[in-house]
Amino acid sequence: MTTNRSFPAQGRPWSEVQSAMAEARKGDLPWRAPRIFKPAYFAGEDLVQVANAAYDMYISDNALYGNTSYPSLGRYEEDVVAMMLEILDAPEGAGGSISSGGTESNMMAVKTARDWAREAKPGATAPEIVVPRTAHPSLEKGAQMFGVKVVRMAGSVDWRADIAGMAAAITPNTIMLVGSAPPYPYGTTDDISALSQLAERHKLWLHVDSCLGGLILPFARRLGKEVPDFDFALPGVTSISVDIHKFGYANKGVSVLLLRDKTLERFQRTTFDAWPSGLYSTPNITGSRSGGAIASAWAVMNYLGKEGYQERVRIILGIRDRIIAGICKVPGLYVIGKPDAYNFAFASKEFDMNAVADAMEDRGWVMGRAGEPASIQLMANRAHDESAEDFVADLALAVADVRAGRAVSRGVKAVYAT
Ligand SMILES: Cc1ncc(COP(=O)(O)O)c(C=O)c1O
Repeated sequence: MTTNRSFPAQGRPWSEVQSAMAEARKGDLPWRAPRIFKPAYFAGEDLVQVANAAYDMYISDNALYGNTSYPSLGRYEEDVVAMMLEILDAPEGAGGSISSGGTESNMMAVKTARDWAREAKPGATAPEIVVPRTAHPSLEKGAQMFGVKVVRMAGSVDWRADIAGMAAAITPNTIMLVGSAPPYPYGTTDDISALSQLAERHKLWLHVDSCLGGLILPFARRLGKEVPDFDFALPGVTSISVDIHKFGYANKGVSVLLLRDKTLERFQRTTFDAWPSGLYSTPNITGSRSGGAIASAWAVMNYLGKEGYQERVRIILGIRDRIIAGICKVPGLYVIGKPDAYNFAFASKEFDMNAVADAMEDRGWVMGRAGEPASIQLMANRAHDESAEDFVADLALAVADVRAGRAVSRGVKAVYAT
């Protein structure tokens, strides 16, 4: 790769810049491919085209001015929120807003709960949130930035939130509980129903991180799959985050934070007008942001409709189930918990999974790794329709190599993002 660390004194033609970029990109992974099992939210070429075309239409429009200069973007925001509230069984009077991604939605949930608690729980002088072992690090980020302490469970119970541990961790300073539907590490949805009861009993905010599952689980349920309760139908659920740029199949930069009661939004917003340019009031961390992602969300949701989402969920869950069935046939491997969405992990009590992961990488597969226990993490997508059986066949060979001592671990550690 040609690097160019100094700011060039003179510019050069776009054709040259473009070929430098094409060259630089040669070392990157494609964002989706049959042998890549790291997160890629691919459900069909047609969806990529629709999302990209809509993104392109709004690429330069600033969503910060969605209520003033670009009313169509403001309308898309409202429509996307309304569609999500509908499929997540929100009651009359619910609301929500769009953010740039799951991290921002979760961070804003922490901020909103903190400001709500100043009014609703004045005894919580040093606010704390209680989260399962598997809760996403974005909650830590929000808590650090908003001056809230995180009490994270030491482990899971049956691969789900340790409900008894969370109940025992509640103190007068607790303002919020979190559950995930499903969490990233194992894909096994927490017992949100139990958390809802706990939240109601202690008058706490319950945030459900459904960034991964919010556009899968409702459709899996319609397909007759067994799906745990996780949405606003549970009376203790106060807020839900869902990423439209994941299994909504929009381009990166769009998620929703939904609130059971839209009047809670006053705790979310930053509102300020004591400066020369007038009122500034936004529900996000970000200011300017591209309208492209919001436009792509609206476009894909209208292109697919509920029926279209249901059909993509049917196809991808089918691919996931073929992979899981194959893994279960390899002696010594087990799938962790009961995956509810497309992401899951598998492990072994008999041999070193890091050695298996290395042996698979040697065969050209790209996968996630996790600890607790050492495991391989997969996220199924449409591209795996053509590779599911090859993956399982190579897995059986990799396991045989590890069992026979022909493959050993290179000592690679799990890394989520750096
Ligand atoms: C459960 C969960 N929550 C939050 C996030 C953060 O989302 P983002 O990467 O869009 O900020 C992720 C990302 O994978 C996730 O899996």
